[in-house]
Amino acid sequence: MAAAGTAACLPAGSLLQACSEAPATGGWDFDEIIDRSGTWSIKYGRASGGEIPLWIADMDFRTDPYVSAALRRRLERDIMGYTSLPETFFEAIAAWEGRIHGYATGRDCIGYAPGVITGINQAYLTFTEPGDKIIVQPPVYDHFKLYIERLGRVAVDNPLLLENGRYRMDLEGLERLIDSKTRMLVLCNPHNPVGICWDKETLTALASLCERHGIIVVSDEIHGDLALWGHRHIPFCSVSEAAARVGMIFAGPTKAFNLAGLSGTAYCIIPDAAKREKYLGTLRSAKLSEPSVMTIEAVLAAYREDTAWLDSLKDYLQGNIRQVEQFFADEPLGIVPFRPQASFLVWLDCRALGLSQPELMDLFIRKARVIPSDGAGYGPGGEGFVRLNIGCPASVLDDALQRIRRALD
Ligand SMILES: Cc1ncc(COP(=O)(O)O)c(C=O)c1O
Repeated sequence: MAAAGTAACLPAGSLLQACSEAPATGGWDFDEIIDRSGTWSIKYGRASGGEIPLWIADMDFRTDPYVSAALRRRLERDIMGYTSLPETFFEAIAAWEGRIHGYATGRDCIGYAPGVITGINQAYLTFTEPGDKIIVQPPVYDHFKLYIERLGRVAVDNPLLLENGRYRMDLEGLERLIDSKTRMLVLCNPHNPVGICWDKETLTALASLCERHGIIVVSDEIHGDLALWGHRHIPFCSVSEAAARVGMIFAGPTKAFNLAGLSGTAYCIIPDAAKREKYLGTLRSAKLSEPSVMTIEAVLAAYREDTAWLDSLKDYLQGNIRQVEQFFADEPLGIVPFRPQASFLVWLDCRALGLSQPELMDLFIRKARVIPSDGAGYGPGGEGFVRLNIGCPASVLDDALQRIRRALD
């Protein structure tokens, strides 16, 4: 790991010529309570009654101070004209994929994406027609299905299988579902909300199956930079030649570096040249191919060599996950957490409480005054579950857990 505070941590040619303003390594205070009032936060917008909001997937921590310093430095230049994507943007992403995920994708395979979901939506528009079928694997991030349906395509569920407390992909079920209208599958890797980093064997088998049936795999890898406990995030297109032919990856530093409000800190990796050109053509025709200057600066600053801040964040998240596990182990309340292999979202199995989904949400929100995400929103298999965002100071998490205990008492 390179030391923070050296110019060597920057991609060559970046506007950020010196790291002198970046904070020294270490000493980040993830315990700090950040006042988000007056910031138009969506998360807190739903917590006007003093509830603790642990739902939408952004974190209550300061943005990586190195990224903030880069944005400040750019602002100080007082010039916000139209901006093109510098070569360094693509080089930084290619280098990051290589260093962090062991994926030696060529720079040419990388393109801009105007946000992960906006990018995926453009993939639906580019490669499918109204009425075509797109497969999702619930319980899964609800925005996949939302936009498939809004764009006039048909979402088809291939639910994950939950066996002996472990989730797995149902490849046999998937093959049975496919028909002449099926064009695409959306993979969530790592999987939100159940927290799995899919293994190479599963991804390779998925790629072969999809290639056999002429199906494009859109892989959402937005949580990939937050693999925990020594798990590895494996980029889908890296697993085999078939995966490189059928796959399109959408990713970005949004989640790991807490940049959601900047909007558009994303990219795609599409190894197949024809698909890539077609997709980028769609972006250009929709005038979606020009990111804001702050987006560019944020990606360059986040994807530097030095990962000390990210490593500290991951340690802190692991501590919070342990706190949740310990709490539900000590308190026999009938709630069982799934340990996420990546990211800051903990899937809580509340089925033993024997409550209907409205009763379960009422218990959390009205009685405990803690707002989780409703498991039922993630589709079949989500009933009886909630998703808890533990990306907050440990004291806030502790307060939330105590509130849940009191509500259940
Ligand atoms: C799996 C997944 N994909 C995409 C997004 C949103 O990405 P973006 O804000 O870049 O559209 C989220 C946000 O929670 C997510 O969990």
